[in-house]
Amino acid sequence: MEKIAFFDTKPYDKQWFDKLNTDFNIKYVDYKLTPDSAAAAKGCKAVCAFVNDTISSETIDELCEIGVKLIAMRCAGYNNVDIKYAKDKISIVRVPVYSPYAVAEHTMALLLTLNRKIHKAFIRTRDFNFSLNGLTGFDLHGKTAGIIGTGQIGRIFIDICKGFGMKVIAYDPYPVEGYGIDYVPLDKLFAESDIISLHCPLTSSTRYIINEGSLAKMKEGVVILNTSRGQLIDSDALLQALKDKKVRGAGLDVYEEETAIFFEDYSSTVIQDDVLALLVSMPNVIMTSHQAFLTDEALQKIAEVTLFNLNQFFKGEALKNEVVYNSK
Ligand code: NAI
Repeated sequence: MEKIAFFDTKPYDKQWFDKLNTDFNIKYVDYKLTPDSAAAAKGCKAVCAFVNDTISSETIDELCEIGVKLIAMRCAGYNNVDIKYAKDKISIVRVPVYSPYAVAEHTMALLLTLNRKIHKAFIRTRDFNFSLNGLTGFDLHGKTAGIIGTGQIGRIFIDICKGFGMKVIAYDPYPVEGYGIDYVPLDKLFAESDIISLHCPLTSSTRYIINEGSLAKMKEGVVILNTSRGQLIDSDALLQALKDKKVRGAGLDVYEEETAIFFEDYSSTVIQDDVLALLVSMPNVIMTSHQAFLTDEALQKIAEVTLFNLNQFFKGEALKNEVVYNSK
């Protein structure tokens, strides 16, 4: 049986892989894949990695050195992989779609929690404090949601917003036909949206798409939602806009410096990242720890597709879900 080194393993990862795997000897490790930890894959031709593993040129060199030929990403995004450097050295596969519903639904959960202050109410009523002071929200019905990125997840979130009676406008450099989406230029989206939700990938053109300049173009009291990638938002600029009350609230499932922090328990530690600490401390910021994907359906699909990808590789078949650097 081929041995697979499975990095950054958590109990919820194992559940479906253990249930569905019949073909591989999976060596689970709980630490992240980095240049220093790559050696744990000795004896494996393939490794399995996730969103906060560091798959830099150094990591790729270390993996190649010990004979690893495949990196199976158990996620859709691959911005943490140096795919340009990987080309012709090591193959990269991913799970392109697992549950766009999981992420879109979590985005609405963040918005509802933030707006109706459910996080506050929950704590109050557990303490038998039944006061409503400070819990006022606003109707979503009739508000304008601006969606940046209308791929799998963005389109589902659009439908959810429409279900709430919201007006939806969107920006995507590659508009999709046939969904009745009202596309507008990005500046118009910034100017007209009451809620802005990010559903685009992290690329050189989307990095810090929310920054001091774009925040200045937004409505007073805008709500920002990010379930895509942390570096889409300049966190310092967001923090200032929250302090200035320009931004009414932020629902964040991702954070630009999440790599070393998310998925781990730091509850007994003094967090050294001041921006993160301030964001988390704010009553109008809800932060979840890259959790949007975490449903049973998504975990099952991730395991199924990853095992399929591994099987294709070891059978020498063309890799359906391969990611290859394209200079164009
Ligand atoms: P997708 O590939 O189906 O859609 C992305 C859309 O963004 C495409 O329509 C593309 O044209 C558009 N886009 C590209 N450049 C853009 C730009 N400069 N401005 C606006 N739009 C742009 O991707 P999918 O599956 O909908 O995923 C969206 C994001 O969600 C990805 O960044 C992914 O990493 C993230 N994600 C987060 C998860 C979580 O647990 N928080 C789980 C899964 C995905």
